[in-house]
Amino acid sequence: MSNEVGPKGTHMPPGVSRCSLVDIEIRGLSKWFGNGENSLEALADVNLSIPAEAFLTVVGQSGCGKTTLLRLIAGLEAPTEGYIKVGDRLVEGTGWERGLIFQEPRLFPWATVAHNVRLGMPERGRGAVGVDAVMDLLRLVGLGDFADAYPRELSGGMAQRVALARALAGSPQVLLLDEPLGALDAITRTRMQDELLRIWQRRQLTMVAVTHDLDEAILLSTHIVVLSPRPGTVKSVMPIGLPYPRDRTSVEFNVFRQELMGMLLREEYGN
Ligand SMILES: Nc1ncnc2c1ncn2[C@@H]1O[C@H](COP(=O)(O)OP(=O)(O)OP(=O)(O)O)[C@@H](O)[C@H]1O
Ligand SMILES: [Mg+2]
Repeated sequence: MSNEVGPKGTHMPPGVSRCSLVDIEIRGLSKWFGNGENSLEALADVNLSIPAEAFLTVVGQSGCGKTTLLRLIAGLEAPTEGYIKVGDRLVEGTGWERGLIFQEPRLFPWATVAHNVRLGMPERGRGAVGVDAVMDLLRLVGLGDFADAYPRELSGGMAQRVALARALAGSPQVLLLDEPLGALDAITRTRMQDELLRIWQRRQLTMVAVTHDLDEAILLSTHIVVLSPRPGTVKSVMPIGLPYPRDRTSVEFNVFRQELMGMLLREEYGN
């Protein structure tokens, strides 16, 4: 498989052009929760330039602000200081161009799989054309035969794929994923990793994901951001210049793994 080298030195996935992709710019971003004595600085002066073609993964200890960062990009939280721009637009609340997937699927139990996906579409997309679009999305995530099923009839992996289809239904330019594969078994997780890469490559998305799994981060990402805790700050941005698909058993993969592990351990033990 050939790999173009992106304009900022990253490996672009095959077949992807930059035309409908958007950069994310984060400047001087801080986030405080609470007031007075109970206040807590979750993120402090975060600066990141996320290139449009990026598959960026955020790693770091529990409580270092990964979810907060994603919620700020999604517009579910407002910054205390600083700003986030997606393309030319300042983030001021949620928007269809930014889809968010949580660790748990959060499907509507009373709605079928197809209905759940349709609810991810803007009003204007839910008409007759929407029916075809929903089926296309369900096929994309391998659930073409489950349109009429209810969430209670699905496995965890299937439910998470419905959540993925629902997030894609808004035609986002940016997909934000908060430990989306955390609850899955090893085999389903491996399949979903392939699926995420395929969707990233086909649908021209900027991906921003959180994971605790370093192998997963190296397998998927063009860039890995390491956050350090209390308050959350960017400790390092590591470009992963390996071609796709990546081989977990390769020497190069292992070098990245060691480097990342070393960085997180130094963070934990302060040496
Ligand atoms: N709504 C909130 N109100 C008050 N404090 C909050 C709120 N959300 C997050 N925090 C605090 O902000 C800090 C960062 O939380 P966050 O959930 O972003 O961490 P995280 O890196 O996602 O952790 P984990 O890996 O456990 O999911 C934590 O100390 C948390 O207690
Ligand atoms: Mg979190």
